[in-house]
Amino acid sequence: MIDYKKHIANLINVDLDKDELVNLIAPTADDNFGDYAFPCFKLAKVMRMSPVMIAQKLASEIVCDDVVTKVEAVNGYLNFFVNRNAMVQEVLGEINSQGDKYGNSDIGAGKTICIDYSSVNICKSFHIGHLSTTAIGSALYKIYNALGYKVVGINHLGDYGTQFGKMIVAFKLWGDREVAEREGVAELQRLYVKFHQEEETHPELTDMAREWFVKIEKGDEEAQELFQFFKKVTLADVMEIYDRLNVNFDSWNGESFFNDKMDGPLDMLREKGLVTVNQGAQIVDLADYNMPPCLLVKSDGSSLYATRDIAAAIWRKKEYDFDKCLYVVAYQQNLHFKQFFKVLELANLDWAKDLVHVAYGMVSLEDGAMSTRKGNVVLLRDVINKAVAKSLDIITAKNPNLDNRQKVAEQVGVGAVLFSALENSKIKDITFTFDRVLNFDGETAPYLQYTHARCNSIVAKAGLSANAKIAVDPSAFDNIETVRLCKLLRSFPQIVKDSATKYEPCLISGLLIDIAQAFNRFYIEHRVICDDVAVQNARLQVVKATATVLKKGLALLGIEAPEKM
Ligand code: ARG
Repeated sequence: MIDYKKHIANLINVDLDKDELVNLIAPTADDNFGDYAFPCFKLAKVMRMSPVMIAQKLASEIVCDDVVTKVEAVNGYLNFFVNRNAMVQEVLGEINSQGDKYGNSDIGAGKTICIDYSSVNICKSFHIGHLSTTAIGSALYKIYNALGYKVVGINHLGDYGTQFGKMIVAFKLWGDREVAEREGVAELQRLYVKFHQEEETHPELTDMAREWFVKIEKGDEEAQELFQFFKKVTLADVMEIYDRLNVNFDSWNGESFFNDKMDGPLDMLREKGLVTVNQGAQIVDLADYNMPPCLLVKSDGSSLYATRDIAAAIWRKKEYDFDKCLYVVAYQQNLHFKQFFKVLELANLDWAKDLVHVAYGMVSLEDGAMSTRKGNVVLLRDVINKAVAKSLDIITAKNPNLDNRQKVAEQVGVGAVLFSALENSKIKDITFTFDRVLNFDGETAPYLQYTHARCNSIVAKAGLSANAKIAVDPSAFDNIETVRLCKLLRSFPQIVKDSATKYEPCLISGLLIDIAQAFNRFYIEHRVICDDVAVQNARLQVVKATATVLKKGLALLGIEAPEKM
């Protein structure tokens, strides 16, 4: 497609670096004043003229062509009008020929991105606090894939720690395999809570738990077997959710995978003189960087979360030779990531700069923040089930004769939940309310899905056969609603790239909402099914292109777009 900024830059005859010139050219905020604008203020000094004069002088020199049809000097700006009809035809042709590949690119060819996301904890329930990491990580996975990168999705399981000693004691005293298999993580959580209650009056439980933890570490058979059982029960639970959310991983190497991989990294840090001993603990002092020390080995010889993350980063670099390794983890862990990134940087590992903490905000439900400690966790499964049930009610009311209503309700409910974590800049805290995320007229996934389905039904109604040779009247594109919509469709490939470089899937969500709104405005103003076949076919092209981009954009966010709703 034509690069309008470059094209315009070539028309302006000034003594400025080409790249700088291109960067100064921006889309106009108001399309009554053209499509692109170039501010002349920067030139005032060199040219020794007022910006207003410069704009007038430059405008009089510019020779328009069939791409740029008009230029105007307004208040120190050069305003350019492009050939809008050609712009519309070009983008519609491009989307039509690329289909579901529209927005893809090969900028990532030969490069690898590791994405550490979701990273659940064994024996802990999958609650709404995991929604953002799962949704954002999975969207980034799909986005980078579309840009040609090799992507490695990593679930860095929380499968190491003294809590597993406690779990074993609790399970041996009060647990039952059949119940655990049937009830899943909920049962493991119940036992864990019971352990803490009993521990208050039976302090001997603490020692027993410590002994079992040592047994796990030493590879004791019974301890290992029980631990594997807990892992199996937990993963069975979360797999069901991952399947529904359409989320995938390439590696499940979690914390315990690095049990035997920490000595090398620790030796390396010691050799580089970074490790000091403080009250028996081995630390890296980070006072020079205004951070508390990074704790590597406790006085009892055990390792920590950071030790494992350091070993994991080194292992991943060796195994995958990543260009970037992203960690999609809540901002509560900011310090942890800053600390261990710094330690690797101080160890002179040049790739430490390629580690990125993609932080995000908290999700809470309207009826107050959720707390794990009090036990009143909001399970992600319950949230999804409720969203699906409510979707089914809405769909049934809107379209009682729809086939596979249950399947569509699943796609809509799941989409609404995922989108709620992808609609805002990721660092914002969000409050989840069912009414808001399921509002078919709001800025929501169901609104996008509904608009997509509406596009399909228009096409179906027209009975357009795919390979028919059809007359198209391009003058039907000469209206502002079509132009605005097509400009948005045109920006999609660049927005996909931006969402990857900024780690912000919400750029895609925002564009899709703009597209759906622009489409609905177009649809109000222009009857698609009409008597003039050539006009109808022109408008149908707009409808089909909109459907293609909405579907593709939703797919990049991990959300399905039902054909009918
Ligand atoms: N399991 C951790 C948690 O729930 C998240 C792990 C994130 N990944 C990492 N490499 N530290 O808090």
